[in-house]
Amino acid sequence: MSNHIAGILAASILLAGTADEREKDGQFDREPGSLARLEEAVSARGNPDRGREIFLDTRDAQCSSCHRLQGVGAHVGPSLDASLEKMTIREIAEALLAPSRKLAEGYETYTAARTDGKIISGLKIRETGGELLLRDGLGKDTLVPRSEIARIEKSPVSLMPARLISRLSREDFVNLVSFLKSPVAQRKLRGRLGAAWLTGPFSRVINKPEPLEKNPDPAKVALSGAGKFLQWKLISARSDGLFRLTGPAAPPKSSSYLLGWLKSDKEREAVLWIDHSTGVRILVNSKTVYKSSVGSRKHRLPIRLQPGWNTILTRVANAAGGSTFGVHLDPSAGLRLSAYRQE
Ligand code: HEC
Repeated sequence: MSNHIAGILAASILLAGTADEREKDGQFDREPGSLARLEEAVSARGNPDRGREIFLDTRDAQCSSCHRLQGVGAHVGPSLDASLEKMTIREIAEALLAPSRKLAEGYETYTAARTDGKIISGLKIRETGGELLLRDGLGKDTLVPRSEIARIEKSPVSLMPARLISRLSREDFVNLVSFLKSPVAQRKLRGRLGAAWLTGPFSRVINKPEPLEKNPDPAKVALSGAGKFLQWKLISARSDGLFRLTGPAAPPKSSSYLLGWLKSDKEREAVLWIDHSTGVRILVNSKTVYKSSVGSRKHRLPIRLQPGWNTILTRVANAAGGSTFGVHLDPSAGLRLSAYRQE
């Protein structure tokens, strides 16, 4: 009997020392045993749809604040479509857990010391005519004349923060990696508008057209009804796909405009799915195609598109503040929603 107890004790001491135990509350790491357990967990219980929400979450994981996938996301890091296809689960895990170990070609970080003593760093976007354009991790570009640079060095550190993953639970890391390995779950991104341009405030009477409706352009200032000049601001959709109207451009008792584009391969019909918590008026290529004074969920809106970029402009009522608006397409080849017209 005492032999048996000793055996149990010995086994539990052994178990306590395994990597499994050490990892339990923490994150997966790059040890071969840990990566094998990650592979197992991804195929056994990974939830790619939950992983997609993590990819789109702009607070914790922030992936879409830097990367594009299926046309959704920003232009700081490389577009991920082609590389994910080729990467194994282990390679993806390594890229996330230790971004600086292997830098994707063309995305090395540069650190420049300026003659005035300031240090700037970022990706080298271009170097022409005696000028250097660096982009930082927030997507902000700085143009510096070469003559103002005392020294420039390639940095061994990736612009991609290694600590992002430590903020995720173990399960969410499994879900994120499942999403990155699931082309089917990724294709569902295709019909989404991940970011849009917001301007306001305007009068709460959303049926009264404002001059900007003729040619909405985030590069230009918009004129408010009261004769004030207003800027456009890029805002991100929440992971549920909805934009929430808050801040100085969208105070209560007003209305605002949200702007995005829809690229179409040809002249055709398409269906927009609309979610809005309050009244909205939707304009496609400057023509009103939908009006409602109350909220609606999953409203089906057939529209007619011209080839190339189509303007999707929405006037959103915001009487109580915090109105939400969302739009998506049925995923379809040849159609794409985007906050940028030039892609
Ligand atoms: C601050 C910007 C930023 C954020 C946030 C960010 N990345 Fe990155 N990522 C980069 C940059 C820049 C590179 C290229 C340099 C490198 O390889 O580390 C990169 C590289 C990668 C690569 C390797 C691509 C290749 O072609 O080898 C993968 C995969 C990746 N990121 C996935 C993610 C995921 C998933 C997230 C969210 C958890 C994320 N990244 C968050 C900037 C970012």
